[in-house]
Amino acid sequence: MIDITTKIASLKLRNPTILASGIMDEDAGSMKRIFDCGASAVVTKSIGLKSREGYPNPTFAELEHGILNAMGLPNPGINEFEGEIRKLKDSNVPMIGSIFGSNSHEFVELSKKMQNYGVDALELNMSCPHAKGYGLETGSDSKLVREITSKVKESTSIPVFVKLSSNLTDIIEIAKSAEDGNADGIVAINSVKAMKIDLELKMPVLANKTGGYSGVAIKPIGMRCVYEIAKNVDIPIIGVGGVTTGEDALEYIMAGASAVQIGSGVYYRGVDIFKKICREMECWMENHNYKRLSELIGVAHK
Ligand SMILES: Cc1cc2nc3c(=O)[nH]c(=O)nc-3n(C[C@H](O)[C@H](O)[C@H](O)COP(=O)(O)O)c2cc1C
Repeated sequence: MIDITTKIASLKLRNPTILASGIMDEDAGSMKRIFDCGASAVVTKSIGLKSREGYPNPTFAELEHGILNAMGLPNPGINEFEGEIRKLKDSNVPMIGSIFGSNSHEFVELSKKMQNYGVDALELNMSCPHAKGYGLETGSDSKLVREITSKVKESTSIPVFVKLSSNLTDIIEIAKSAEDGNADGIVAINSVKAMKIDLELKMPVLANKTGGYSGVAIKPIGMRCVYEIAKNVDIPIIGVGGVTTGEDALEYIMAGASAVQIGSGVYYRGVDIFKKICREMECWMENHNYKRLSELIGVAHK
């Protein structure tokens, strides 16, 4: 029997595959479906204090090796989202509430509400590459990352994860700031800032001009980030970026991740991707005589 259970802070997961924020996670029904398809937990769409429409179309383009998007953090606002969280809570789906704000007051207010509604953990989105005043703009200031993380930790009792961007001058410095602020884990990475030009129109494909690139092309970038963070912090890491197969997930685990999140992979392999990835991981482990996933976490550092 192969044991692929994993633990991130107090969160015990039946397997290491988690739904990433922003993909099929706008309502309780689709998140429950993803859980039923094998994910061990789901991350909600990033939610702010007020509703946001997001950017005008086009917001999404499929490129050769991944997806380019600039949705603009569309969401119904925290108060409207309460019902979805409470419904999912009734279905016993482990839930990580993703939130974004522009300062510590906003993050604290959102965190308290998310906890009251029943999420099992929080993910602080400090890494969206295309939302002015949010995301990467807060996540590239080490003092602000420490302040936001510690204030959220002081006002909540559930695990707090900080989601970082690869578009940072020094991801190690920012990861250490999150750890200093008492984060329970780091999530790396968000989509990578990128652009596509339409030759015929002679203009950027996205209405926002730049967006975030995700999918297989960004896996080596995510891998480098996870490896470097694992070398420099002592808290658990969740690897994200281009996970499409069991082998991809195992690479992240060997780089030091305790679990992985999957976003674009759902688009390429369907909602069953979570089950497929778990089976592929088990198969590799059986062939290489590993019985427990925990034996593989961080082995690339030895
Ligand atoms: C359409 C789309 C929407 C996304 N929305 C969010 C979001 O609201 N919050 C967030 O933290 N990340 C968001 N992401 C980033 C993903 O959670 C993930 O970090 C990124 O896509 C890399 O993983 P992947 O290669 O498995 O897709 C979004 C990604 C896509 C493709």
